[in-house]
Amino acid sequence: MRRAVATGAAAASFLLWQQADSGAGVASASSGRSPRRDGAQPSQPDGQPAKVDRMLRWREKWEAGVTRWHLSYPHPLLKQYDVELLGPVVGREAQSILLPLCGKSVDLGYLARRGHDVVGVEGVGLAIDALLRDWGEELTVPRPHWISEESRPSSIRVRMGRAGWYQKMASEQLGKTETGTPYTTAELLRVVEGDFLQLSPQMLADFGLGQFEPARGATNGTFDAAFDRGALVAVNPADRPQYAEVLTSLICPGGKVLLVAVEHEPFFGPPFSLTHEQVTTLFSDHFEVQLLQREDTLDKEPSWRERGATKFEEVAYLLTKR
Ligand SMILES: *[C@@H]1O[C@H](CO)[C@@H](O)[C@H](O)[C@H]1NC(C)=O
Repeated sequence: MRRAVATGAAAASFLLWQQADSGAGVASASSGRSPRRDGAQPSQPDGQPAKVDRMLRWREKWEAGVTRWHLSYPHPLLKQYDVELLGPVVGREAQSILLPLCGKSVDLGYLARRGHDVVGVEGVGLAIDALLRDWGEELTVPRPHWISEESRPSSIRVRMGRAGWYQKMASEQLGKTETGTPYTTAELLRVVEGDFLQLSPQMLADFGLGQFEPARGATNGTFDAAFDRGALVAVNPADRPQYAEVLTSLICPGGKVLLVAVEHEPFFGPPFSLTHEQVTTLFSDHFEVQLLQREDTLDKEPSWRERGATKFEEVAYLLTKR
């Protein structure tokens, strides 16, 4: 289930533009932080522009620079539950790690600097611009000649950044200070720009993403691990079953998900309150669900009280795929 880190230009050659899946689900329920498609999407068959996504607000938040959920440091729970998510440090191999609805999270860089093969998914292009700018330089990913844009308009695409000097320096420091770290640095960050709710392992495999199967010489679009912080709780509650289904399909047997949920009352989201019972309902068919910890964070962020919360807890779960 583990793979060597994919670095260098070879990885780029895997990348291609994904054809649209015939527009299915375009105007259906929208995803959370990552809007489905923007106003530039193709018209519906009746000639009307596609229904505007009500999650347009996420793009508007990025445009306005109102991204209060963004942390400028790696998420404390990612560090705290490192071993639970990625296994023992000694002898650890590079893993393929998925970050749904990632925004410009520094967690991607944090994991990539440890040599992991990190793939984010984000619907707002502006967020990816910022992420890759911070990481270094964005590489141009050529569209493979066998897919013409006219015949198959792309609904998702993969963007890729190469580490800049700061990231390289940070990695060198990491190598010096963390003895026994067997990693090589992943130079590349890859982000799928598009709607998480539309992804499938096949689609990601077409892009050369996910775990590498040596026998086939190709990736299969599933991941060893995922870090979900603020993703599931950002999607509209009506979309949760679909979100869970997609996430489930993208994790390999034995793979892990570190899920950071919030429980609050009485204000409406986002982030939307997600109870232990709801997590169990969504995932227990395919995962073992383990509550890791629950922390009262009402006083950490003044806006929760301003929005009327009398309770706000951050709750971490470890999901292990059967
Ligand atoms: C994908 O490939 C990995 C590595 O070879 C393997 O462990 C995993 O079971 C595969 N996943 C699926 C769904 O076939």
